[in-house]
Amino acid sequence: GPVVALVPAAGRGVRLGESTPKAFVPVGGTPMVRLAVEGLIASGAVDRIIVMVPTELVDSAVALLPPTGSVQVVVGGAERIDSVRAGITAAPDAAYFLVHDAARALTPPELIARVTAELRAGRPAVVPGLPVTDTIKSVDAAGAVTGTPERAGLRAIQTPQGFAADLLRSAYATEGIQATDDAGLVERLGVGVHTIPGDPLAFKITTPLDLRLADAVLDGAGI
Ligand code: CTP
Ligand code: MG
Repeated sequence: GPVVALVPAAGRGVRLGESTPKAFVPVGGTPMVRLAVEGLIASGAVDRIIVMVPTELVDSAVALLPPTGSVQVVVGGAERIDSVRAGITAAPDAAYFLVHDAARALTPPELIARVTAELRAGRPAVVPGLPVTDTIKSVDAAGAVTGTPERAGLRAIQTPQGFAADLLRSAYATEGIQATDDAGLVERLGVGVHTIPGDPLAFKITTPLDLRLADAVLDGAGI
């Protein structure tokens, strides 16, 4: 069955602080959402792409995305989870979903292909992750350290996150759920989530420093 990529691009980009919603901010001259969609197409692994954008930007998204029948634009929601749910609803025919942030605009197509290959090989939930380089501590509300998890057992998780379609539909079936990633919802169903090695270029463009880094990468200035 079809592999459908869902691209959440409906956020405001508060931390980036530009006047335009983040997914429409250019990196190396091209809007992030277009770069993300081009990466999905270049992977050769995706049959259809659904992009979720703010209501007022549907027309501009259609205008700036590749003019192919396999790319569709729908209205996102107030929270990322609402945007992903809108994409799930728009693809009742999907056999597999890839959920891929527009803000991870430089994600190598090869990583997208690796996630999809694991899905097709029968893994129900696949996420890319990198070893963390900082020491991570838990703290309480007053800032006091409550613990230091062993770093070797931690991964910083990226997208695309891949799922058997019915599994993701089940994970989203309950209203009012909250999670910072889609795999977190699947874990709550008691289904095992598999990690594969991520890629540094799949970093999420979140802050002005991230944007400068992404611009430098596309300039060929290197990383
Ligand atoms: N996203 C979305 N719908 C929302 C919120 C976020 O589709 N209501 C998307 C963003 O457009 C982004 C991805 O989810 O591609 C990851 O979210 P994040 O990096 O947090 O982007 P923003 O929410 O736009 O940024 P911020 O949290 O700084 O406002
Ligand atoms: Mg956000």
